[in-house]
Amino acid sequence: MDKKKDNVISLQTVIANVAMLDLVKQVRELREQQREMCEMAVKSMLRALDAKDHYTYGHSTRVAYYSVTLGKELGLNDEEMYELEMSALFHDIGKIGVPDAVLLKPARLTEDEFLKMKEHPSMTAEILQDFDCFTDIATYAKHHHERYDGRGYPDGLKGEEIPLFSRIILIADTFDAMTSTRPYRKGLPYEVAFSELEEFSGSQFDAELVKHFIKAMTREDSKGEDTFELTIIEGNFAKDAA
Ligand SMILES: [Fe+2]
Repeated sequence: MDKKKDNVISLQTVIANVAMLDLVKQVRELREQQREMCEMAVKSMLRALDAKDHYTYGHSTRVAYYSVTLGKELGLNDEEMYELEMSALFHDIGKIGVPDAVLLKPARLTEDEFLKMKEHPSMTAEILQDFDCFTDIATYAKHHHERYDGRGYPDGLKGEEIPLFSRIILIADTFDAMTSTRPYRKGLPYEVAFSELEEFSGSQFDAELVKHFIKAMTREDSKGEDTFELTIIEGNFAKDAA
């Protein structure tokens, strides 16, 4: 009699385990689908950015490449690398909301125009925050203009209050702004941009991250490649903005 009862219990346990495994599988599949939807959203938003301002689109791909180069040097895991690449690709998506007369102005911005431009990190966060899969990414993008000494924007965060990925993106972003050639000026050589990053280490940038960045980028540069690839969007992207 007891043996029969034991058999019933073990059969119930097996059924419960199978049901649980099925549930886990379904949750995993749902997450996978959600990630795919998010990636589709990324791609269409990036296409919109490309249509609005081709330079900023190219800049975003290069900032993603520089950011993941530093992330790899820091030994980030696959999940962290994915989030970092996504945050960097997206960091300037809020520029969609900046008027063309300001965004595309080929000359120095007036004080008012600069204030308008400074709204883009908060706009990025506003665009992204409604997506569940982008909540953290919205935060990292929002803080990519915070300075290590607390004199950045939008929230004046200081030191390690600034999320690590935002500190990484700031270095990648500034490096690209210095090294890319624009119609009105030639990009700086890597060595000159490295010394600028070093000069502002501890004030604008996280000094430790700058050291790792220079090491990783020097190694990357020695490969002599003209293009790079990303994991989230497909294609061979040009390192040279011109
Ligand atoms: Fe920015």
